[in-house]
Amino acid sequence: MKRTAALLVGATVVPNVVAWGAYVASNFVSDQTATHFQTLLHNQSSDYLANVATWADNIRYTKWGHFTGPFHYIDAKDNPPSSCDVFMERDCKSDGCVISALQNYTSRLIDATDSLPVEEHEQAAKFIIHFVSDLHQPLHTEDVAKGGNGIHVKFDNRHFNLHHVWDTSIVEKMAGGVRGSPYAAAQRYADKLVGDIRTGKFQAESTSWLDGISLDDVEGTALIWARESNAYVCTHVLPHGPGAIVGQELGSSYYDDAAPVVEIQIARAGFRLAAWLDLLSAKIASNEAGEL
Ligand SMILES: *[C@@H]1O[C@H](CO)[C@@H](O)[C@H](O)[C@H]1NC(C)=O
Ligand SMILES: *[C@@H]1O[C@H](CO)[C@@H](O)[C@H](O)[C@H]1NC(C)=O
Repeated sequence: MKRTAALLVGATVVPNVVAWGAYVASNFVSDQTATHFQTLLHNQSSDYLANVATWADNIRYTKWGHFTGPFHYIDAKDNPPSSCDVFMERDCKSDGCVISALQNYTSRLIDATDSLPVEEHEQAAKFIIHFVSDLHQPLHTEDVAKGGNGIHVKFDNRHFNLHHVWDTSIVEKMAGGVRGSPYAAAQRYADKLVGDIRTGKFQAESTSWLDGISLDDVEGTALIWARESNAYVCTHVLPHGPGAIVGQELGSSYYDDAAPVVEIQIARAGFRLAAWLDLLSAKIASNEAGEL
């Protein structure tokens, strides 16, 4: 089992949007949060979040991790491009969805009854780091063609499915390509986004990105984020409906419209992940103080 996991980790050379958001997040957490998660994740480097950001993708295809497959998305049964929206009762399946998973792993990480082994806290942290980013990818909040996995398209003359284009191709193109050193490219691009948030084009709006964020209402918080992502399915992912995009080349004008969406979603995901981890570490610290 160990060997399989190691091989799978090694095979994931190209980070998807999830890792890019984690690089952003590590710039915005408090010192207390950084220390807490560096310890929990056994990584003292500044990349302790990005280091585990794709773990949840790697284990979902193992026998052990199979049950986590549905945790990466919520299949909104809406009708793009004419109507987009996400509803828990309609869209979260009985075997779970990204919103119920965020709720579950958030409460397991807080572990108010102090009943779980520390390995479970570590696992919960890795899931949270991944699922906050997944919530920001529009096609992780859409049912059509299994979140675009069944829609065949071209991107700069190469064949992909639409889901891959939104997970990987667009952000890689924005970063100027990642050949050779994907993690270095992700880090450079994340640094640019950090600047945009601190002093640049996202500075004014970034505080509003935390509107509604609350550990006491994980589902409500995640629904705000999911609905915001899902709205882009109507406006930018499938603006002319699923049929119109099949087989199309998406590397030029479609890309021009989509890139700013991918960019702001990575920025939001990273900024919100940092805030979420701050809330978590503060909560855990106050629980521990209460026990003394
Ligand atoms: C910590 O994370 C960095 C960045 O991903 C990685 O290169 C390093 O091997 C990790 N260290 C440990 C102890 O896992
Ligand atoms: C919560 O997480 C645990 C540990 O991974 C898992 O066994 C359980 O099925 C999850 N529950 C829900 C409702 O997602």
